[in-house]
Amino acid sequence: MRAAMAGADVGDDVYGEDPTVNALEAQVAAMFGHEAAMFAPSGSMANQIALQLLVSPGEELLCDADAHVVTYEMGAAAAYGGISSRTWSPAGADIDPVTVTAMIRPAGYHAVPTRAIAVEQTHNRSGGGVIPLDTLRELRRAADDSGVALHCDGARIWHAHVADGVGLREYGLIFDTLSVCLSKGLGAPIGSVVVGSAERIERARVIRKRMGGGMRQAGVLAAAGRYALDHHVDRLAEDHVRAARLAEAVAPFGVLAAPVRTNLVPLDLSKSTLDAPAVGAAARAEGVLISVLGPSVARLVTHLDLDDAGVEHAVEVLTRILRG
Ligand SMILES: Cc1ncc(COP(=O)(O)O)c(C=O)c1O
Repeated sequence: MRAAMAGADVGDDVYGEDPTVNALEAQVAAMFGHEAAMFAPSGSMANQIALQLLVSPGEELLCDADAHVVTYEMGAAAAYGGISSRTWSPAGADIDPVTVTAMIRPAGYHAVPTRAIAVEQTHNRSGGGVIPLDTLRELRRAADDSGVALHCDGARIWHAHVADGVGLREYGLIFDTLSVCLSKGLGAPIGSVVVGSAERIERARVIRKRMGGGMRQAGVLAAAGRYALDHHVDRLAEDHVRAARLAEAVAPFGVLAAPVRTNLVPLDLSKSTLDAPAVGAAARAEGVLISVLGPSVARLVTHLDLDDAGVEHAVEVLTRILRG
């Protein structure tokens, strides 16, 4: 990947003249069966650009209360897009399309009109759950019936594709817009891509520039993304196997918060005598880094830089700590 970055052909992407960025955008658009795509510096910016494409100021977005777009993006939909967000109770990947459909408010001057629904594939805070294809199709039908748009925060859509064997194009065609990350499981240092129609992506370029996300010789970064797409998608299956191994090892301690489908292992320590910061600190002291997300919530993540020996080390350290 470093060699691909060093050797990348570059130009000024604000003028649309970076051949490597252009190639990445064409590659990702084709993968998801859409007309166009646009490189962005981060997943958060890619999501927020897409939401601004779909929802005008004073109009409404529906999403899960645990969604990244309303949990970790610092109120950007409201701050930059003037977007009103309404959420359904945290449901992870187990979305009930009937509940979501019932929340849609029609256009008019009486109530805030719903303009878009956003879902997250895979679902981060619930522990990497995969939304079933049938659920997504039902949401698409509901969106069509009501004239609202459907956005996918596909930061980890690659994991869903590998776990459920659903084609990226199959996913892509369900959504009006997607944001997909190159920087998480795929292992690029930076970068996400907004995917959509040619008309929307033209407007996306204006919003990206307005948000300070227009980059110049960004081909060095796009080259990393292209390398990741070519070499690091299929291998995600290895990360899933390693996550399952971790889950199997910690499950007897009653701390597994949800079944593990992909590369995230969510831990709930509320019934343990240990708290999450203590487990995190003890593990770190032995070279095992875990995410501490709250007093009793933690997350294990498997990734490109973790091999079988690393997982076995983590199993040994974590089971010893959990045994107390
Ligand atoms: C589901 C989801 N969407 C979006 C993002 C945002 O990505 P970034 O950190 O590149 O802004 C993340 C980051 O963890 C995420 O988990």
